[in-house]
Amino acid sequence: MSQNVSDRLRFLRAFASNPRQVGAILPTSRWAVRDMLDLADVAGADLVVELGAGTGVSTGQILDRMHGSARLVALEIDPRLAGLLAQRYADPRLEVVCDSAENVRRHLDGAAADVLVCALPFTSLEPATRRRILDLLPQVLGRRGVAVVIQYSPLILPELRRLFPVVRQRMSPRNVPPAFLFACSGGDGTGTAATSSE
Ligand SMILES: C[S@@+](CC[C@H](N)C(=O)[O-])C[C@H]1O[C@@H](n2cnc3c(N)ncnc32)[C@H](O)[C@@H]1O
Repeated sequence: MSQNVSDRLRFLRAFASNPRQVGAILPTSRWAVRDMLDLADVAGADLVVELGAGTGVSTGQILDRMHGSARLVALEIDPRLAGLLAQRYADPRLEVVCDSAENVRRHLDGAAADVLVCALPFTSLEPATRRRILDLLPQVLGRRGVAVVIQYSPLILPELRRLFPVVRQRMSPRNVPPAFLFACSGGDGTGTAATSSE
């Protein structure tokens, strides 16, 4: 069985066990991951943090783009998926953490992320959990950092606008279903909220 097919089955099993936590029946396509990562300077980052790494479709592409001394901390709440990630990517730059994104700061030793990659299913998470995680995003990100967020609907946009002065948006139409991509940052430091579409 190809890795692609076995990953889809693993993902489907994870979804069947906990649909609200997984939030999708298929891993993100490699095209959508590429489009999402193009919204941030992963190659220039010293610390990348990934929330909701799943079967690792983004993890692999992040590692491919990162420089030799950069660090990737990937959080995944499902122990079976976290185990798969740790086994698949034996890369010294990667630390796989099986924990909730709510605890991300515990795993960063006070460091701030240059790039935050977030594929959490915000619309299906329990509202209090969603709020706790969203409020953490700007706290985890460095002043010049960028948080890239992938979702299957634009519903999270008002929350992202609440948290970040600048939110850029684009679509990745080749994904099934089409993916909504957001790049969130502190902008020019004026604190003026702005949203642009590409
Ligand atoms: C929509 S899937 C995305 C998986 C993968 N990044 C991809 O793009 O295919 C969401 C992932 O987030 C994980 N997840 C859900 N809630 C989480 C939480 N509170 N902390 C960490 N991971 C979480 C799920 O187990 C699942 O693997």
